[in-house]
Amino acid sequence: MTSPITLAAQARGYSKSAKELEDSGQPERARQLYLKAAKLYNDASASAPDNMDKNTQRDLAEHLFAKAQSLKGPSIEYSGAGAVNSTDNAGKDDSSLSRDDIILKEIPNIGFSDIGGLENVKEEIRKAIIYPFTHKDLYKMYGQNAGEGILLYGPPGCGKTIMAKAAAKECGAEFISVKTSSIVSKWVGASEKNIKQIFETARQCDKAIVFFDEIDSVAVRRSEAEDYAKRVVNELLAQMDGVDTADNDLLVLAATNEPWSIDPALRRPGRFSKMVFIPEPDLDARIAIFNLQLKNRPLDEAVDVKSLASMTSSYSGADLASICKEAADIPLGEALRGEKVRKISMKDFATVIDKRKPSIVSWYIGARKSIQKTEEEDVFSEIMQDIKW
Ligand SMILES: Nc1ncnc2c1ncn2[C@@H]1O[C@H](COP(=O)(O)OP(=O)(O)OP(=O)(O)O)[C@@H](O)[C@H]1O
Ligand SMILES: [Mg+2]
Repeated sequence: MTSPITLAAQARGYSKSAKELEDSGQPERARQLYLKAAKLYNDASASAPDNMDKNTQRDLAEHLFAKAQSLKGPSIEYSGAGAVNSTDNAGKDDSSLSRDDIILKEIPNIGFSDIGGLENVKEEIRKAIIYPFTHKDLYKMYGQNAGEGILLYGPPGCGKTIMAKAAAKECGAEFISVKTSSIVSKWVGASEKNIKQIFETARQCDKAIVFFDEIDSVAVRRSEAEDYAKRVVNELLAQMDGVDTADNDLLVLAATNEPWSIDPALRRPGRFSKMVFIPEPDLDARIAIFNLQLKNRPLDEAVDVKSLASMTSSYSGADLASICKEAADIPLGEALRGEKVRKISMKDFATVIDKRKPSIVSWYIGARKSIQKTEEEDVFSEIMQDIKW
């Protein structure tokens, strides 16, 4: 049986893709994916061992179902937990997803200079991703394998996705970002076809980075996976084995915040054999992130970025970005209500920080439990070693 954690991860993947489709003006496709996400959250809720998880997942299912209903389309029936049906869905499936649904081909506009701190991670990425592209001859001369897959992992909101984009920009490669959940199809052969198509597209580029974001939504352990996910993993393994390590014009990257749930076969040599941990930002990184986030905002003279950084240890980069946004919202709101226009003050930041808890603490707690269960403490030593929580 698929675990509730896996179901919830798959649901997250679907709902993210649904949102992207909705934002890009494709309500019907978005609606179908919202329904799938709702169904998966329902299933996760039904098998969750903990009452709090049950309620959260049921709430999410209901929210996504309401979202699906709000989008244009034929009527949908909903009859409580475990049952999400669409009257028009018979005979339809996501094997009809177009190439554009699966692949986002883009040239990223984010470089390393837009990422605060994390200098040692950037150096690891340079060695693993950028130098094999920019110093191809040296790698060949020393017989070094380049082109093995790299798995970026770590707590949510700490820069995995932006790091992958920045890597592509730094080496001038085409960035083929795969909406991992979209490649899944319950129809025999379709999921595999989608994976094949991605690698074919990449091979047609001069230089390409294929990026499977949130890969945990499909590449789960085959023992726990449903049939379609097993086929996805098998095809992924076959395609990665087919990437010639001497042919370093193609690199495969993936990101996840649940690395322990990924099929271990994908971590063997030649596949995602290199794993790079992207931790929460340290003090210097937080200073850099605050500077980046605040550079175009009016700040009171007393606002001190160093103090802000020391007040926010164990917050993620995404938390810091939200703190800046919410702090700016306070004087903005006042001004909109007709009060005096003023700069953002230290008090605004303190108010926001007081209200917000760091989002990664619970991730570390859950991660450790899961890693102990899979008995891979030595593989994920960075997560286990950190004794802050
Ligand atoms: N080191 C950083 N420098 C600048 N901004 C950052 C940094 N880390 C995170 N951020 C901010 O947080 C946001 C989230 O980062 P990102 O999407 O890369 O996280 P992630 O690790 O992929 O998270 P998830 O696991 O939820 O997908 C970014 O868009 C950016 O605004
Ligand atoms: Mg991400």
